Amino acid sequence: MEKNWWKESVVYQIYPRSFCDSNSDGIGDLNGIRSKLDYLHELGINVIWLSPVYKSPNDDNGYDISDYQDIMDEFGTLDDFDRLLEEAHALGIKIVMDLVVNHTSDEHPWFVESRSSKNNDKRDFYIWREGKDGGTPNNWGSCFSGSAWEYDEKTGMYYLHCFSKKQPDLNWDNPRVRDEVFSMMTWWCEKGIDGFRMDVISMISKVEGLPDGKIEGNSGFGGLENTTNGPHVHEYLQEMNRRVLSKYDIMTVGECAGVTIEEAKKYASLDGKELNMVFQFEHVGLDYDEHGKWSDRRFDLKELKANLSKWQNELEGKAWNSLFWDNHDQPRIASRLGDESPISAKAVATVLHFMKGTPYIYQGEELGMTNCRFGKIENCRDIEEINAYKDLVGSGKMTAGDMMAGIEAKGRDNARTPMQWDATENAGFTTGKPWIMVNPNYKEINAEAELKDKNSVFHYYKKLVALRRRSEWSDLIVYGRYRLLDTDSSEIFSYTRELDGRKIFVLCNLTDKEVGYKSEFVKEKSLLVSNYKDAYLRDSMTLKPWFAAVWEV
Ligand code: GLC
Ligand code: CA
Repeated sequence: MEKNWWKESVVYQIYPRSFCDSNSDGIGDLNGIRSKLDYLHELGINVIWLSPVYKSPNDDNGYDISDYQDIMDEFGTLDDFDRLLEEAHALGIKIVMDLVVNHTSDEHPWFVESRSSKNNDKRDFYIWREGKDGGTPNNWGSCFSGSAWEYDEKTGMYYLHCFSKKQPDLNWDNPRVRDEVFSMMTWWCEKGIDGFRMDVISMISKVEGLPDGKIEGNSGFGGLENTTNGPHVHEYLQEMNRRVLSKYDIMTVGECAGVTIEEAKKYASLDGKELNMVFQFEHVGLDYDEHGKWSDRRFDLKELKANLSKWQNELEGKAWNSLFWDNHDQPRIASRLGDESPISAKAVATVLHFMKGTPYIYQGEELGMTNCRFGKIENCRDIEEINAYKDLVGSGKMTAGDMMAGIEAKGRDNARTPMQWDATENAGFTTGKPWIMVNPNYKEINAEAELKDKNSVFHYYKKLVALRRRSEWSDLIVYGRYRLLDTDSSEIFSYTRELDGRKIFVLCNLTDKEVGYKSEFVKEKSLLVSNYKDAYLRDSMTLKPWFAAVWEV
């Protein structure tokens, strides 16, 4: 397989609003990130993915952009950005930008013009339709509850917004929209950035005629199947690749809601015509129920293993995987799959970090940060949670108690509580009033304490990163072939990776109980890592709770 730096990288995602506040306004910022580059260097990662830092009215925390070529006031200035890029590069850390171009903010000058009149020059930059039978043009629902259409008084027509009504969808079928987006991307590449994470990029091409969707559960709205993996999506990405991406040595990862294996092979094909890799979401949908994500249901381990292994095996030799448990839209894996103990955080990290693909660590994951007990909706900040609460509790479809339990288990704010730097007030994130509550467990879980403790989750992550990035096993961990073992076990997650006659064996007990285990490998050549001391491999053993180890066999 062809070797590429982005296959050999470990990416760290920063959600700037919640990372580090340098000027006491309670909001994280670029200078805050600059002050923590040494910490990231110590962890050993070599790429930062920066969630959006562009000008934005913050209806969806920066995923609603009003100027793609400037920085959000609260985060700093373009000069601050240039300094951040330069200092990161000096440490050997690359920066990947979030590219949010399925939609803009309704305050973007393109939309302000577009909505001003039916014959405005930018009218066709967005998706405008007449109403039907006195209602919306079709039955599509927004990902943030309610209809995906908003009626606009001024011209008496509706515009499409797959997310909030302040996030109107761009019309990618218009070649002028593509020209504008590509030239903006070129501007960032010329600045020297190192890649793009492309927000909901699988949604940029809508099915022709915008037909009604299949009604989803009891929402009353049609699903968004007509908006994902649409008829021209690959054509547009290939055009983007020809006109922009192929001219630079950058990495690209597409956020692809609703992507299947077959589609992923096109988006992330190793022939390099579109993107380097995709984020797929099948595995993080396995603990949903009839209320969708608003459920405290836990993973079924057998199902989770089968799903992740399917992606490992079916993309082998054809496309490249990304590996993630957490991001700014997901609850914390230490709570979701672990039991919030540090030992469990290390176990769940182990199963992910030896798979084939590029691993992503979300800020705080390397500390074993957990979900937050928000208690009441007034403590939540996320537009998705707030809208869903109004909708589901307001209509009596869920009780307030069940909905809060769902939010505390799966809501996006779990990932957005401030980074826990130390045991001082507000976890050292800010000396002002934080924009969202701090998780009260910061006195136990924080970076300062973990840096000092060689047995901490932080130091364990540091080992995982070092093994992949610079060890005698690096090639094997990056390029080796994956094979799942113990398929039928609902307690053990185990697999091998193999390259050029060398083999490693990954063995994890993903329960809080002792589990008896018989191994087909009797003897180890060496131990790569374990979350217990003295992890010897025998043909028959009793695995302690959350035991994880990796051996060369
Ligand atoms: C993506 C982002 C999410 C955002 C949405 C709309 O899913 O990750 O945070 O709300 O797109 O931009
Ligand atoms: Ca600030």
